[in-house]
Amino acid sequence: MTEPKYKSGNNPEEEKFIEANVTLDPEDWAAFRAQAHVMLDDMLGYIEKIREWPVWQPIPEEARARFRTTAPHKGVELADVHAEFMRDVLPYAMGNVHPGFMGWVNGGGTPVGMLAEMLAAGLNANLGGRDHIPVEMERQVSEWIREIFGFPHGASGLFVTGTSIANLIAVVIARDAALGYQVRASGVAAKPQKLIAYTSTTVHSCVPKAMDIAGLGSDALRLIPTDSRFRIDLSALVTAIERDRQAGFTPFLVVGTAGSVDTGAIDDLAGLVELCRREKLWFHVDGAFGALAMLAPDLANRLDGIERADSVAFDFHKWGQVPYDAGFILVRDVEKHKQAFAMQTAYLARAERGLAAGSPWPCDFGPDLSRGFRALKVWFTLKVLGTERLGVSISRCCTLARYLEGRINETPELELMTPVELNIICFRYRAEDSDTVNAEIAVRLQESGVVAPSTTRIGGRLAIRAAIVNHRTSRAEMDALVEGTLAHGRALTVR
Ligand SMILES: Cc1ncc(COP(=O)(O)O)c(C=O)c1O
Repeated sequence: MTEPKYKSGNNPEEEKFIEANVTLDPEDWAAFRAQAHVMLDDMLGYIEKIREWPVWQPIPEEARARFRTTAPHKGVELADVHAEFMRDVLPYAMGNVHPGFMGWVNGGGTPVGMLAEMLAAGLNANLGGRDHIPVEMERQVSEWIREIFGFPHGASGLFVTGTSIANLIAVVIARDAALGYQVRASGVAAKPQKLIAYTSTTVHSCVPKAMDIAGLGSDALRLIPTDSRFRIDLSALVTAIERDRQAGFTPFLVVGTAGSVDTGAIDDLAGLVELCRREKLWFHVDGAFGALAMLAPDLANRLDGIERADSVAFDFHKWGQVPYDAGFILVRDVEKHKQAFAMQTAYLARAERGLAAGSPWPCDFGPDLSRGFRALKVWFTLKVLGTERLGVSISRCCTLARYLEGRINETPELELMTPVELNIICFRYRAEDSDTVNAEIAVRLQESGVVAPSTTRIGGRLAIRAAIVNHRTSRAEMDALVEGTLAHGRALTVR
């Protein structure tokens, strides 16, 4: 190599700066490696012994105060920061790793997923695009998902943060397919059509939010009533579509739910598919947690019709037990998917060879350009645990839910508030001022550190809601929930 003549304008300070070793890598790799092993061991130990921890505990004021400091200027030792993590973070996490966690709908994660996350961070791959094996792996996992859901060859898929974004992507694809792709430039305001979407009253709030973000407005989402099992009423849906057409609106989308957030209800997906085909509407399934019931042979037929949907949104971070976050959108028509999101720019030009090969890229199918390697933790989870074992854990959650249903039904002080469709139980302690009493019971259960349910409203009445999503949850936690509810309920209502 020829010695370059140019030397930083002969500025000795700049020369020194350039020559100095100022990377952010460890100075002492051996010490760093030893500390890394400590951190790995601590985390594995935490998961292994998770039952010795409370599911959740209130954050002490002194711990909270330690998160109200100014930005660090000078760095400190990794071991010191890890010690802070062990003292202030680990004990006060949300608790969804714990078998007693049954609030909202949260997965428990696995050690396999945790290790995969570490590997992904080490690779630091950006899955927006380009020609590298992580993108191939995402395509491979998408293919597996396509297979699991019985979608045709050529269907497209994309990892996203969660079902909220996956639903938004589906709304945007359906909107553009209905209005024509020119709408991406003109905006919906330039279009004469007023698009209308349909779903049931049990819909998750992220769907109206998606309508709002997509510029269609949440008022353009018709909330159709449900039957006694909280499934969308198909005849009411037909009537609503007819009424809207007569009023000059343009129906374009039906969102079916596979596992509603409040009760786990599954719409008649086959009936919805038929209706959407007849009415020429996009049929999207929000299967945030319920869609992965496809992996459980005793549950899969409950999702009949999902294989004919235009798109399905779901999460691996719920029943798939993959660490947060790992949402997914599966789309039947790759062209429609791409046309809704692909953009051409000089700095993202594609090539036949070299690193810029491999078009289309994942960024052509969603709003994100920079994207993490979510596919790796899903790939590891599916390969190491297998779909069969995941299916068993999903099935077991539903069996535990039925056990809990039985215990509630045999206990006169408790009232089951909805049919148990899948893995969610809504119930309450019978009391005069029932809403107040049950809200307090839920908080006391959480503060007990034994079990952590959440609450919702069923028919306007407050219910304690237990969503059995965690693969570690067992009969013991079901029993603890019943016993705890009774104990707190009695204490609160004693005269
Ligand atoms: C039915 C349903 N849809 C959508 C969502 C939102 O999913 P995420 O939190 O992954 O965005 C949830 C979350 O629980 C859900 O239960």
